[in-house]
Amino acid sequence: MTTGTSDDVLLQTDLALPKFQGKVRDVYDLGDRLLLVATDRVSAFDVVLPNGIPDKGRVLTQMSAYWFEQTESVVPNHMIRVIDSTENPDLPVALGPEFIGRTMLVRKTAPVKLEAIVRGYLSGSGWKDYQASGKVCGIPLPAGLRESDALPQAIFTPSTKADEGHDENISFDQAVEIVGAEVANTVKVRSMSLYMYGMARAQQRGFIIADTKFEFGMIANADGEDEAILIDEALTPDSSRFWDVAIYEPGKAQPSFDKQPLRDWLESTGWDKTPPGPAMPPEVVTLLQGRYQQGFERITGRALVRPGS
Ligand SMILES: Nc1ncnc2c1ncn2[C@@H]1O[C@H](COP(=O)(O)OP(=O)(O)O)[C@@H](O)[C@H]1O
Ligand SMILES: [Mg+2]
Repeated sequence: MTTGTSDDVLLQTDLALPKFQGKVRDVYDLGDRLLLVATDRVSAFDVVLPNGIPDKGRVLTQMSAYWFEQTESVVPNHMIRVIDSTENPDLPVALGPEFIGRTMLVRKTAPVKLEAIVRGYLSGSGWKDYQASGKVCGIPLPAGLRESDALPQAIFTPSTKADEGHDENISFDQAVEIVGAEVANTVKVRSMSLYMYGMARAQQRGFIIADTKFEFGMIANADGEDEAILIDEALTPDSSRFWDVAIYEPGKAQPSFDKQPLRDWLESTGWDKTPPGPAMPPEVVTLLQGRYQQGFERITGRALVRPGS
């Protein structure tokens, strides 16, 4: 395992292209393609903190790329390539070394207005719904399940994709009302297969993926028909709950492999979860950087690509 570290943090980018800024990614519009730049920004409780984690963006981009490659024969996705050089003759702008390893060139799609969530374990809003109703997103579950228990089988639990505010869990029938039966079915089947594949692979490497969120976008396929393909990111620590198999213990909340040190520290500051968030001290930054890098290396078996490596 490599232990190389990098101290530089990328919080902002500024290319001369139309830009959309998400919480973590800067997205540049190239017409029929997009440049997705995963910065090192960290968001907690929907608030972006003032400082970042070195290499976090590289981990997100390269982990997504790993899953996109592994699953592309089963589920088509948006990836064209990860930027691994400053020589990009097919791009209209020059990219400096800070873009290497964290930027993905993708096909632009029309995003499907659903968050495609798959749960294999009872946690988070799923655990809350279950306690209140015995169901998650309208799916009845056996009585007597404990927090963090494995479900009898993985379930598809979509939510709305709110432009502002918080997403809301909905039933599959409500998803059909929003996007139509064909798209809803494709998104469900594709999400379930991606989760099954990812979960099996992660488990071999000592991780549980308790749940995860996918996004899909519509694009014309080779036959000229619109099809829902996988976009955004896939099976990363930002889109999924990763638990360490070695310390998994149902009946309570599980420490998240990557974000627990951040949550513990945030709780200790007494921050009220409204902006602005507090700056992370150096020891928390170092701990989180290590967690992201270890998670990436354990799951993919790859070394993180950085400029000059
Ligand atoms: N291939 C694609 N086509 C269109 N939109 C995309 C594609 N891939 C990602 N996106 C969008 O780009 C944005 C990525 O930025 P991100 O920081 O992840 O946003 P968020 O704050 O919503 O999580 C998201 O709005 C996502 O839906
Ligand atoms: Mg996102």
